[in-house]
Amino acid sequence: MPPIFIANWKMNGSRQMLTEWLHALRDAALDPKATLVLCPPSPYLDMAAALAQALHLPLSIGAQNVHGEPKGAFTGEVSVAILQDVGCRYVLVGHSERRRLFHENDTLVAQKSLAAQQANLIPIVCVGETQEERNLGLTQGIVETQLNAVLTHAGPSCFNGAIIAYEPLWAIGTGVTATPEQAQTVHAGIRSWLQQKIKGASLVPLIYGGSVTPDNASQLMQQLDIQGLLVGGASLKASDFLSIINA
Ligand code: PGA
Repeated sequence: MPPIFIANWKMNGSRQMLTEWLHALRDAALDPKATLVLCPPSPYLDMAAALAQALHLPLSIGAQNVHGEPKGAFTGEVSVAILQDVGCRYVLVGHSERRRLFHENDTLVAQKSLAAQQANLIPIVCVGETQEERNLGLTQGIVETQLNAVLTHAGPSCFNGAIIAYEPLWAIGTGVTATPEQAQTVHAGIRSWLQQKIKGASLVPLIYGGSVTPDNASQLMQQLDIQGLLVGGASLKASDFLSIINA
């Protein structure tokens, strides 16, 4: 499976930063086999897609969120059709910041994932446990509950063409990365859950996110069941993101 590297800028960036970042990638030697995705804030999606294309970058654009309904009176929201119209191919669903700060529950996340899949966008379904849940030994159960919600809502083809991102909440933006062994253990658990529940389970890439840096990327990527990385803070500087890809 080709490696996947996703840059999640969250609520950061500017037109100037986007231009400089994409030019830095153009000037770098990129592995043509790797899947690269940039998720900037939604007002920059259109520009990002157009500029990446103009620069002939082997990079796709993803949104950080989407609404589950096709259209209508949902002030402030964006639909899958709008994302496609501006050149997105990917969309994050169920990022822990959306779940925690914006009260998105498992069912809503499942709706979003299905809407994305039906529109031929690639949903990146994010799952993960809190520190407290980990301390109580609940990690695998929490992750499976989150995945089960998608399965229940969208059926056994729910992860066809999708990506699953394991992002432990205690590792996101904290500087505390899961050790490669901790990440591998959960990824192996997700892989085995997929094999029991889903057709074509081996084709679903599993990626890790949570305080990924140029220093820990290589060790994480060496784990058997880690096919890629979802990078927040360290993706804001093109040079750091490039170091992560090249690690
Ligand atoms: P972080 O964020 O790399 O800054 O920890 C990862 C994410 O939230 O996707």
